[in-house]
Amino acid sequence: MDWGKQNRWSQITKPDGRCFFLAMDHGYFLGPTRCLEKPGEMVTPLLPYVDALFVTRGVLRASIDPNIKVPIILRVSGGSSIIGADLSNESVTTSIDEVIRLNAAAVGLSVFVGSDFEHQTLNNLANLINSCEPYGIPVMAVTAVGKELEKRDARFLALSCRIAAELGATAVKTYWCEDFHKVAENCPVPVVIAGGPKCDTIIEVYEFVHDGIQRGAIGVNLGRNVWQDAHPVAAARGLQALIHEGLNPAQANDLYQTIKNDAVPA
Ligand code: 5RP
Repeated sequence: MDWGKQNRWSQITKPDGRCFFLAMDHGYFLGPTRCLEKPGEMVTPLLPYVDALFVTRGVLRASIDPNIKVPIILRVSGGSSIIGADLSNESVTTSIDEVIRLNAAAVGLSVFVGSDFEHQTLNNLANLINSCEPYGIPVMAVTAVGKELEKRDARFLALSCRIAAELGATAVKTYWCEDFHKVAENCPVPVVIAGGPKCDTIIEVYEFVHDGIQRGAIGVNLGRNVWQDAHPVAAARGLQALIHEGLNPAQANDLYQTIKNDAVPA
């Protein structure tokens, strides 16, 4: 990797090669999202536990302190909404000048393989990579499924991840699935696990993250399962320990319970 790109990549990952990205970009197609109404207030207590924030330029400028020490992965695709005709009809929303002006450590963009906008979104990815490469800016491809959550199986996700990697993505963000190793083994660049809708319990989250990492993921890009949890700081601390400190799901859950209980006034 070029020095600048490697340097940026090393800002958003830890020396162990792993990462905990906090996703807070949901408003770009969901509008107001539960617990993300005030992004700046939500994120402040979580900053000590996460390695990077995944956020749009609008929320970054309006809600995040520019003195922040946590690096930024800028969400640079969009143009559709949850109530519109097709979520996959996305374009690149943010110029390379803006990416540089905002001092982003990396950018992220969705591709919708198998959708009516497959060609358009894969072209978006290729063009974004062409814009970012001269400046050494890492590109994270997001293998989105729109409203069709049932698409999240190893065969489909391996196909999407491989295509994104072939187009030149620095890393790929995809969903956890059964047999996740089939996704990771067939992808020549690092794979990061996305979250999806909130699970009923935090241990379910710790279990799928742990399984994904055992099967080859380098970490996570999680949102709702952290900040929609009743105890977001405890959820984030448990994930940090699981990803970077080798805790298993039961140990991470114990840590979560301890922090959660400590937070309750006697
Ligand atoms: C939305 C995204 C999110 O960043 C990604 O889905 C992770 O968030 P969550 O864990 O809430 O699913 O790309 O399009």
